[in-house]
Amino acid sequence: MIKMEGINKCYRLGGENIHALSDVSFNVADGEYVAIIGPSGSGKSTLMNIIGCLDVQDSGSYKLAGTDTSKFSGRQLAKLRNTHIGFIFQGFNLLGRLNALENVELPLIYQGVRRKQRRQRAEEALSIVGLADRMKHRPSQLSGGQQQRVAIARALVANPQIILADEPTGNLDTSTGAEIMDIFEKLNAEGKTIVLITHDTNIAARAQRSLSIVDGRIGFEAQEVM
Ligand SMILES: Nc1ncnc2c1ncn2[C@@H]1O[C@H](COP(=O)(O)OP(=O)(O)OP(=O)(O)O)[C@@H](O)[C@H]1O
Ligand SMILES: [Mg+2]
Repeated sequence: MIKMEGINKCYRLGGENIHALSDVSFNVADGEYVAIIGPSGSGKSTLMNIIGCLDVQDSGSYKLAGTDTSKFSGRQLAKLRNTHIGFIFQGFNLLGRLNALENVELPLIYQGVRRKQRRQRAEEALSIVGLADRMKHRPSQLSGGQQQRVAIARALVANPQIILADEPTGNLDTSTGAEIMDIFEKLNAEGKTIVLITHDTNIAARAQRSLSIVDGRIGFEAQEVM
């Protein structure tokens, strides 16, 4: 599903080169649940942006679902992203003036799905994450855990094969974070491929496999839990 080989990414800032990713190679198979764990500044978000086709590598090859992304235009990357990947971020990234239902409908608007079907699918996605009774609430009227569940529903609504989550429990207390992790486990059991980025070993331990990243390099496989 995800195949990376020899990926490099540099940022240029004020004449200085920051090597954010160095020779990164790894694969994630369809249906796997993989954690990528590393300290702050190790390159996790940079890697997530490339996996999610939000940014492109300087060199190396990245294949997503068999498609080589390196020759793609911005528009083609956006299409690939919209059909294959659902994103979840630490800060939820919901639109404050929209209610839960409208936030979840957004990816379907970009896909040109009609209003009635949009509404129905958004309601289904919110039910899956246990928020059937909070559809008309705006983000400011929801708890942090509920906001993250809305974000998960939004990530699911277009039925992507891959869920890509960057520190999804970083803004949540331990027990609310555990509830979010339960949802990921359920989604994985139903066949979704999950890539979870974290600096927290307890969170990473819940994945099937974890890869460590230090100074932009993927290390050995830190553990094989299952
Ligand atoms: N747009 C940018 N311009 C310049 N340098 C950047 C940029 N984005 C990231 N970097 C640098 O690249 C390195 C990797 O950053 P990245 O955001 O991928 O780290 P991270 O592992 O996600 O960290 P955190 O856990 O704090 O989110 C860091 O040294 C960072 O300062
Ligand atoms: Mg980060």
